[in-house]
Amino acid sequence: MDMTSMLVFCVVVLLCYYALRTPNNIPMGPLTVPLLGNIPQLIGRNPLLLFRKWRKQYGDVFSVYMGSQLLIVLNGYTTIKEALVARGNVLSERPHNFLLDKIKDGEGIIFASEASWKKQRKLAVNCLQELGFGRNSFEICVADEAKILIELIEQNADNALNLKDILTTCVANVICGIMFGRRFSHEDKQFLDILANISEDAKNLGNTNILINCFPFLQYFPGDLLGTQIILEHKQVFQKFYEGLYESHQSTLDENNPRDFMDLYLIKMKNNSTLSSKEENANIVANLKALVGDLFGAGTETTSTTLLWAVLYLLHYPDVQEKCYDEIQTVLGMERLPSLDDRSHLPYCEATILETLRIAAVVPLAVPHATTRDVYFRGFRIPKESSILINLDSILHDCDIFNDPGVFRPERFLDSSGQVRKPKEFIPFSCGRRVCIGKKVARMELFIFLTTMIQKFQFLPVDPCHLPDLEGNLGLSFAPKYFQVKIVRRQDVKS
Ligand code: HEM
Repeated sequence: MDMTSMLVFCVVVLLCYYALRTPNNIPMGPLTVPLLGNIPQLIGRNPLLLFRKWRKQYGDVFSVYMGSQLLIVLNGYTTIKEALVARGNVLSERPHNFLLDKIKDGEGIIFASEASWKKQRKLAVNCLQELGFGRNSFEICVADEAKILIELIEQNADNALNLKDILTTCVANVICGIMFGRRFSHEDKQFLDILANISEDAKNLGNTNILINCFPFLQYFPGDLLGTQIILEHKQVFQKFYEGLYESHQSTLDENNPRDFMDLYLIKMKNNSTLSSKEENANIVANLKALVGDLFGAGTETTSTTLLWAVLYLLHYPDVQEKCYDEIQTVLGMERLPSLDDRSHLPYCEATILETLRIAAVVPLAVPHATTRDVYFRGFRIPKESSILINLDSILHDCDIFNDPGVFRPERFLDSSGQVRKPKEFIPFSCGRRVCIGKKVARMELFIFLTTMIQKFQFLPVDPCHLPDLEGNLGLSFAPKYFQVKIVRRQDVKS
């Protein structure tokens, strides 16, 4: 074959490929490479920035291919609200995913679908409500943990400190208080390992997920290049941890006196069960472990990462830090610790938290949604079982909603009388049927932890000439890169 025939042949093959690949009415998207789809454009790049560019080119609904897997990316408030609320009945399932199917045993909430998801979510919400989750009674637990946070920072004051571990342990202990009725020491090796594993998985799952799900054979490559084995090893560690907690609860369970989430869940499940006792037990335990794992993982990584971003932005915007501190001084002084009742009296602090949730967009692509049948949406066909990415970043960084979205400016959340004003488009916790179930408690933790830290300490860069990077790493959540901060006691600043 001469060169010209070869070229003609290649062009014909490519044209056939594109003609066959783009079934009718699927949203447009960037050009793909055979077999790989858009993976070559995405590897090593920040997908959020690429999605911003592709939204400009292809509109609010566009398609991306991961290998042969179709992802529909939804952008902008109007489109996302319509999909999750008006069409929530058909766009709220979760996609099948090779890696997650390997990781999970029971159903849980986050990655479950259909009847099982409905049942587990309802049950979890009921248990959490009975325990006072998101209400003031639950505040004591957060406030106690905030005191420990202050003590731990105090021990390291004046040194360069990476706050990640301390914050993660405190946030995790709040969830442990609710789930297991106990907290763990900051020196408990098993607990620290669990938290480090959650964090590593959250980082790895983003990238590993994409490749492994497209090309499952990669799991057999030597050297665990994609970290799949590590994720599976972590699963064993989590299972052992939850198993131990389950056994201690089961053996001391008093059906008339539930102590925590685990007790309540066990009681409710046993009362509702129609299965024989052996099946029943295996089923309940698997689902309980999956559910506890979901709440523990989702509740720890997201909230502690948001706190880390807040500290990082305060380093970059010292004037915001001083305004928060001054407000706290005026309302509370140096000694009285912040409580939830103070929230309405500390609007600038509250606006700073909202601005952190906006600019950091810690869960920028939510959790992938899916449909169980072909759905027509905005004139496009979304085929059965394709993944749907809810691009929350496209709302939280939309310059038509938030002027200068790259600038950290808490004032955008204040009205002319200085009171907090939240635009309806502010949805960092998503919306519709899958809306985050921990949003109230997350907002409570963010408020108490952050205001307590600002009241007691000043955060300074370790090297004033080189501030830590504001770029983050995108895994399951969007986390700041490793950074250290110098922390000075406020009393010492004053004297
Ligand atoms: C700053 C902290 C947090 C942020 C920004 C956040 C954000 C989100 C987002 C965007 C989703 C995906 C919703 C969707 O798929 O459309 C989600 C789901 C979820 N979140 Fe959160 N979250 C936070 C804290 C928490 C906490 C503290 C808990 C529990 C203690 C929690 C539990 C969950 C669960 C269980 C789901 C899955 C809901 C479902 O699939 O039905 N989250 N969260």
